[in-house]
Amino acid sequence: MYRWAATGVKAVVYDQYGSPDLLHVEEIPVPSPAAGQVRVKVAATSVNLSDWEGLRGSPAYARIGGLRRPAHRTLGSDIAGVVDDLGQGVSRFRTGDEVYGDNLALMGGFAEYALAPESVLAHKPAQLTFPEASTIPQAGAIALQGTEPTVAGGRVLINGAGGGSGSFAIQLAKRLGAHVTGVDNAAKQDFMRSMGADDVIDYRRDDFTRTTQPYDLILDLVAHRSVFAYQRALAPGGKYRCVGGSVRALLRVLTMGSVVGRVTGRSIGVLVVKEGPSYFEPLADFCVAGSVRIPIDRSFALDELPAALARVGEGRACGKVVVVPS
Ligand SMILES: NC(=O)c1ccc[n+]([C@@H]2O[C@H](COP(=O)([O-])OP(=O)(O)OC[C@H]3O[C@@H](n4cnc5c(N)ncnc54)[C@H](OP(=O)(O)O)[C@@H]3O)[C@@H](O)[C@H]2O)c1
Repeated sequence: MYRWAATGVKAVVYDQYGSPDLLHVEEIPVPSPAAGQVRVKVAATSVNLSDWEGLRGSPAYARIGGLRRPAHRTLGSDIAGVVDDLGQGVSRFRTGDEVYGDNLALMGGFAEYALAPESVLAHKPAQLTFPEASTIPQAGAIALQGTEPTVAGGRVLINGAGGGSGSFAIQLAKRLGAHVTGVDNAAKQDFMRSMGADDVIDYRRDDFTRTTQPYDLILDLVAHRSVFAYQRALAPGGKYRCVGGSVRALLRVLTMGSVVGRVTGRSIGVLVVKEGPSYFEPLADFCVAGSVRIPIDRSFALDELPAALARVGEGRACGKVVVVPS
């Protein structure tokens, strides 16, 4: 499985959708940046649920661009590292710059080197370590945009709050003065409280759509229910936004959400998360200022990637999991 040569670099690759044991370490040629791209010597890559979904090829939206086989042989979008080569026309970075960003279109972060368009990267704040910075781009963009409608004194519920985006979202909604309820499995209840959740619900025991006190904002990271259930859980004028979950639930929200919302005086829809540095850098500023904590569950070495992905995919991680090449 392991072959080495001075000219090659180590990457974890897979060629078909399935379980973590399909991942293996391979030596690949040192990648060369195309115009507008930089090559990053990866120092840390955080795991997102989207990596697990990309490995499994499920939900179906994880197969966009690669219906039968993975579009990218190497997963990993949230990278942090050092720029070590520049493609033509790159103007924002120089070699040696410390950067971080969500490289969702190209992936490739679970490797020693990755190529990324300069547009997805930001300069890493010196106060953050590489592993810390790698946790922010995707989860931060989701958490910032997902909690944006929070109003002081309002009741916010975050479904899937014990994971990467959720643990940032709890803290952001609290900063905005909301009463926050976190929903996740029993093992993550204490963790959600430590992030600031006022109330917690174990989704395997209780259905948050059947609680008596309705919510002004629901951010759903793992949607599975009917539009009518979400409507029931919202206060008049309340807003439900989902970013992930089963395709069936997302389609129901897309097709019926606005109608049911309009008829009942609520707003029910899918949040299409905007990507790029301007959407995640505000979270890094909060982290640097100390007003938001970066919850790193565990770090893994590159060749432990199967275990790192399984920890997130099988729901054992509290907060973010990070992979470091060496
Ligand atoms: N809309 C967009 O543009 C966009 C962009 C990027 C990513 N996404 C999506 O954003 C989502 C957030 O990902 P993330 O990286 O924050 O995920 P994560 O770290 O894995 O967190 C998700 C959490 O939800 C919990 N969970 C699973 N099933 C649940 C249920 N039925 N009820 C309540 N909680 C449940 C998981 O724990 P257990 O599994 O242990 O129960 C886990 O703690 C993903 O679905 C991803 O596809 C959307």
